[in-house]
Amino acid sequence: MADKILIVDDDLDSLKLIGLMLQRHGYEVVAANAGTQALAKATSEHPNLIILDVMMPDMDGYEVCRRLRANPDTRGIPIIMFTAKTLVDDKVAGFEAGADDYLTKPTHPAELASRVKNVLSRTTTQKKPEPTRAAAIGVIGVKGGVGATTIALNVAAAFSLKSESAIVADFRLGSGSLGLQLGFPQSTGMANVLSKPPTEIRASLLEGEMVTHQSGLRALLSSAHSKESLLNYPLEAASTVVKTLRTMGTMTVFDLGPGLSTTTNRLQKEMDQLLLVIEPNPVSLAMAKDLLQELEQTNPGSGRIHIVVVNRVQSSVQTPWHEVEQALGRELRAIIASAHDQLFQAARAAVPAVISQPNAIVSSQIVKLAEDVSARMKVAAGEPRP
Ligand SMILES: Nc1ncnc2c1ncn2[C@@H]1O[C@H](COP(=O)(O)OP(=O)(O)OP(=O)(O)O)[C@@H](O)[C@H]1O
Ligand SMILES: [Mg+2]
Repeated sequence: MADKILIVDDDLDSLKLIGLMLQRHGYEVVAANAGTQALAKATSEHPNLIILDVMMPDMDGYEVCRRLRANPDTRGIPIIMFTAKTLVDDKVAGFEAGADDYLTKPTHPAELASRVKNVLSRTTTQKKPEPTRAAAIGVIGVKGGVGATTIALNVAAAFSLKSESAIVADFRLGSGSLGLQLGFPQSTGMANVLSKPPTEIRASLLEGEMVTHQSGLRALLSSAHSKESLLNYPLEAASTVVKTLRTMGTMTVFDLGPGLSTTTNRLQKEMDQLLLVIEPNPVSLAMAKDLLQELEQTNPGSGRIHIVVVNRVQSSVQTPWHEVEQALGRELRAIIASAHDQLFQAARAAVPAVISQPNAIVSSQIVKLAEDVSARMKVAAGEPRP
C-alpha cells in the first residue's frame, strides 16, 4: 500500500506542484490549505507523513506542529516543515515544535523526494508493532470458599510459566488470601492504589505497589487485615485499576471474590473472559444458575463466561457432570480434582502449585485451563487457533 502524505500549504500552486511530484513517486496525496484543516485531516486521513508550510494565515505551521504532537492520535506522524524561510532560528523553532525534518522553498524535486523517503523509512523502521490488546481474566466464586483464589493464582502462574507477562490482582480487600499464598502477607498494594483519586491511578503508581514473586509473576495484592475491607473507594478507581493493569501485562487475572457486589458487577463487565468457579452440589448449582443469568446480561452469548468446577471435597456423592451442564445450559470448561495436600504444601512454600508441583493432577488441569483461556484470546484477536 502506498504511503499517504498530507501536504499543508495556503498557496494552491505550491500544493499542486508538490502534490504532483509526490504522486509521480508513487505516494498517495491528500491536501489541506489551512492549519485547522490540516489538524482535521491529520486525524481523519491517518497520513504516514505530513509536509507542513510554516506561514499560513489562520495558524502557523509551528502551532499546527505543536498541536499534532499534543494529540495522542497524531503524535507519531512524522512532519517535514516546508517554508520559504531559510534562517537558522526558524529551523530551530520547527524542531522545537516537534518537526522531524526541514525543507526550504523552492526545493528541487529530487531533494523533496529523498527527504520524504528518508523520513518515512526512519519512522517505519522505528515503528513499534501495535501492542496486542492484553487480556483481562476475571475469576468469580459462586459463593465463598469454593476455590476461586486458588484458580486465579494458579491460572496466572501457568501464564507466567509460559513466559507471558502475567499479573494477578486481588480485589478482595481485607480478605486477600493471594498475598498469603505468594509469601507477601503484609502487602496492601491494592488498597494503597484504590485510596488515590482515579486520575492519579497510572502505570507508574501500580508499578510501585506491585510485588514480584520469585517465579516472575507480578501481583497487586490485598491483605487479610480485616480493617482493609472498610476502605471506601469510588467504582471509577477500581475500573481504572483494571484498565491500567491490562496495559502492563499480557495476561492479567483478577480475583473478584464470591458472588456479585457493586464493584465486581462493574469489573466483570470489563473482563474479556470470566471464570465462574462452582462446586458440584445442589446449593452451588442453584446459585450458579442465578449468577450466570446476571453475568450473561453483559455481552450475551459472547462465550466469555466459563464454568470451572472445583471438587474441593472428595466425595462419592456429588451432582453428576451432565446434570451440572444441563442445569447451566453450557459445557464445563474445566473440572479440577481434589488436592488438599498439594495445595497445602504449595501455600506453605508460598509457590503456586502449578510451579511447585507441576506433576500433580490438579496442576495439569489448571495449566490446561490456562491454555484454553489463552487460545480463546488469540482466536478473539484474529490469530488462527493453535
Ligand atoms: N481442588 C481443591 N482441592 C482441595 N482443596 C482445595 C481445592 N481448591 C481449593 N481448595 C482449598 O479450599 C480452601 C478455599 O480455597 P480458596 O481460598 O481458593 O477459595 P475462595 O473461593 O477464594 O475462598 P474465599 O471466598 O474465602 O475467597 C483453601 O484452603 C484451598 O486450599
Ligand atoms: Mg478467595
